[in-house]
Order: sequence, then structure tokens, then C-alpha cells
Amino acid sequence: MKKIIFILVVLLFVFILLFFFWFYKIRDEEKYQNKKYIKTLEKIDYYIPQNEQRYINYKQTHFNLNDEDIVTQVNLNLDKDFYTDTMETPYKNTNYILINKFYYVDKEYVPESLEEITICTKGSLYLVEEAKIQFEKMCQDVQKENLKIRAISAYRDYTYQLNLYNKYLVHDTKKNVDTYSARAGHSEHQSGLTVDLDNTVTDFNNFESTDEFLWLEENAYKYGFILRYPKNKEKITGYSYEAWHYRYVGENIASYIKKHNITFDEYYVRFIQNKVNYS
Ligand code: DAL
Ligand code: ZN
Repeated sequence: MKKIIFILVVLLFVFILLFFFWFYKIRDEEKYQNKKYIKTLEKIDYYIPQNEQRYINYKQTHFNLNDEDIVTQVNLNLDKDFYTDTMETPYKNTNYILINKFYYVDKEYVPESLEEITICTKGSLYLVEEAKIQFEKMCQDVQKENLKIRAISAYRDYTYQLNLYNKYLVHDTKKNVDTYSARAGHSEHQSGLTVDLDNTVTDFNNFESTDEFLWLEENAYKYGFILRYPKNKEKITGYSYEAWHYRYVGENIASYIKKHNITFDEYYVRFIQNKVNYS
């Protein structure tokens, strides 16, 4: 009997030893793989050293994404819930200001040089001067094709957005409203660079089915406008597809975004954000 107990104890001891050996080996292997992974990420221009562990964690749940997308999406804070750790956006009064569910502008922010749109508008609406000039130019060229676009919403101040969001909340859940309306301070409309469009006859919700939409898909970038909330990019932008919502970013940025089929959020991480903090 004693012999059997002795053998069992020895076996248990060996088993525990093997277990620890295996455990540390796996852990070392994991550490080695993570280090190797980080070494490849470090080569990316917009890699941020402070985000190292977040990149590793994000890759574990998003193994299909390539290295650029892992870094981009973590830099956009997409590993966090929307509207957490929000911060005031830099680059106010530039064409590359980013306003989304993580970056906001304060209550008082009113862009400089707002100008009233004089043609192709439903009522009195305002855009930043450069965006207004480009919008009107685009509209005139649309008309040459016997088509029609019209601004139905442009600059919106903080209070306007607050009331709009609260109005939706009367009939809808917060979770749903957040998919189509920005919380006050987080609406790009407050930048004065954004315009919602219709074609004067079709409801804006069906703008995608119009010839005007097809024209814009081909040409808007030439005037510096992009479709800000495209289809299949909802996880990045945080919003459902909006065929009517256009953002002025200037011709160069718009061309790049169109060519590479990325969102403005992604462009911002790759070319703008990095410049501020790490150059
Ligand atoms: N509909 C867009 C997301 C806004 O409310 O600004
Ligand atoms: Zn809009």
C-alpha cells in the first residue's frame, strides 16, 4: 500500500512539474510571438508605442485584419465603446478636423468664416466659405448634366444638434438613435464642413436611388467632398450608411479617400493624428 502511495505521489509530482514546464513554455512562446508581432507593427508610420498592448489584444479578437487596420482601428479607439474616453478635437478651423464618437467640439465652437449658401439650398443654410464655394461650383456642374442637388442641412450649432438628438429619443431607443444621430458636440455638422443633400423630389432617405447620387459617387471628390458614412464602414464610422451626408475635406484628401476606399477617420489616423503627437 505504502509503495502505491509513494508511486502516486511521485507521479503527481512529475505531473505538476510537467504542467509548469508546459505552462511557462507556452507563456514564453506567446511573449516571443507578441514581440515579433510588435516588431512588424513598429514599421508602420502611425504606430503609437503606448498602444502596444492594445494592438496585441485587438489582434486576438480581429485576427482577419491586416497590420495597418489593427493599428488604425486601435488608434481610432475602436477597441473601446463609442463615447468613452472622449476628447476635444484638435485642428479646429481646418479642412481636416475630425469629429466623431470619440472627438468632440465644445458647446461654444462656431467655425470661422461661415457663409450663407446662395444657390441650391432649401432655406437659409451656412457652410465654411471654402466648402460653400466648392459646393456651389459642384451644384452648377450638376445642373449642366440636367440633374439637381440641394442642401437640406449644413452647419448646425450645438443646441440645434442637442434638440435634434433629443427629438429622436422621444420615439426611439438611445441605442438606435446613436446609429443615425450624433450626440451634441459630436456632430460633424458643427464643423460647418458638412452638407446633407437631396435632389428636390426624392426623399433624402432614398437619395441612393437617384441619378444625382451616381453623379456624386463619380465626381464629388473633384470638388473636395466625400461620402462620410459609407456602406460597410459602420464599425469604423459608428453610423449607419448615409447616402446624403457629404463632408468637405479638400480635393487632395478627397481624392486619396476615394482612391483607397477608406473613411475620413482612417485617413485622419494615417496622415493627421500622427503628425501632432509624434513628429
Ligand atoms: N446624422 C449624422 C451622423 C449627425 O447627426 O451628425
Ligand atoms: Zn448629415
